[in-house]
Amino acid sequence: MKKIVTIVGARPQFVKAAVMSRLLRSAEWNDRFSEVLIHTGQHYDDSMSGVFFRELDLPNPDLHLQVESGGHGRMTGSMLLRIEEALEEQKPDLVLVYGDTNSTLAGALAAAKMGIPVAHVEAGLRSYNKGMPEEINRLLTDNISDWLFCPTQTAVSNLEKENIRKGVYLTGDIMFDAILFYQEKLQQSNPHQLLQSIGLNDRFTEEPFLLATIHRASNTDDPAKLSAIMQALGRSRQRIMLPLHPRTRKMLRQHQIQVQSNVRITEPAGYLTMLLLENRCQAIVTDSGGVQKEAYFMQKPCITLRDETEWTETVESGWNTLAGTEPEKILTAIQQLHKPNRYPAFYGDGQSAEKMLKALLDH
Ligand code: UD1
Ligand code: UDP
Repeated sequence: MKKIVTIVGARPQFVKAAVMSRLLRSAEWNDRFSEVLIHTGQHYDDSMSGVFFRELDLPNPDLHLQVESGGHGRMTGSMLLRIEEALEEQKPDLVLVYGDTNSTLAGALAAAKMGIPVAHVEAGLRSYNKGMPEEINRLLTDNISDWLFCPTQTAVSNLEKENIRKGVYLTGDIMFDAILFYQEKLQQSNPHQLLQSIGLNDRFTEEPFLLATIHRASNTDDPAKLSAIMQALGRSRQRIMLPLHPRTRKMLRQHQIQVQSNVRITEPAGYLTMLLLENRCQAIVTDSGGVQKEAYFMQKPCITLRDETEWTETVESGWNTLAGTEPEKILTAIQQLHKPNRYPAFYGDGQSAEKMLKALLDH
């Protein structure tokens, strides 16, 4: 029996870990693995954390480290201290981390320093922009991981360029596994209640609308960029639904950035509500990594409010447009939204978690 400590802390990690936790604890695998789930506390609002545990049937964390988000050094350092204490007590066979947040790096670093093998889900992604805190987290985590689970062939090639070949597995994308499972759960949910949870009535989604999300530090922490994005959304005259990350809401307020009446701001959506909106929208405008991919899974054209992306295949296939943050460029991209004819399957077969567990057993 292998004991796994899983480290999560931020919204996208709850989605990814839910898939793996379900499988680990299923009758097929629970005689070979046991799991201790640690929540660092990086995300703490109910709309950023609690709702995901409830909707995704994620088991309650065995340990909550209560490290709320803050400056990078303080946050990562506090996590490192507390994760080390937890690992000393738990003595796992391996530590499982997801994605590229400060919780990912803290988990991987604490484990590697203690000689505990690390498995990294979503390895090999690169934006080649070291100005992003996530790029630093990815580079460091990949360099100290023993299993590198790559969602795409591009991710495998990125690692090859850095001479990282050992322990690399092309598994497909665990967020694709998640979509397949939770789309079914969505069918059994009450859409009226989901929309109501963020203050929308059913009529909102009956007319065409774009779904937008904005939270990337480079966009929110630069008032000029955030203001330019909001200006572009306003000038587009499209109905836009914007479930807003708390950091973006704070910045809009702090800098008194105007929101035009065609842009409907709500609390962050729960995952099922988000899937419902992604299903019903015309297209997606986002700076999120996960949401870019979900747009692709749902076959919705996407505009990315960044100059580069880690999910390059979505751009190369014509489904995603990198529009940056200049209003004119964003407006042109909105006018030119269209669905390409081709839809290649870049993200695996929906069985990525199973492939990862097999690899963890084999080596
Ligand atoms: C983090 C990740 C980012 C990921 C995102 C997912 C890092 C460096 N960044 O960014 O890669 O895409 O999560 O959503 O790890 N806040 C609240 N309530 C919460 C959480 C955050 O109010 O529950 C506010 C706080 O003011 C906080 C700010 O949001 O300081 C930023 O939170 P933080 O976790 O540092 O970064 P994210 O932007 O969420
Ligand atoms: N998400 C959500 N509600 C929201 C915004 C995003 O449930 O209001 C989900 C989204 O569907 C995806 C994940 O959160 O599964 C992506 O996380 P986020 O955009 O916060 O981070 P990133 O993927 O950029 O790291």
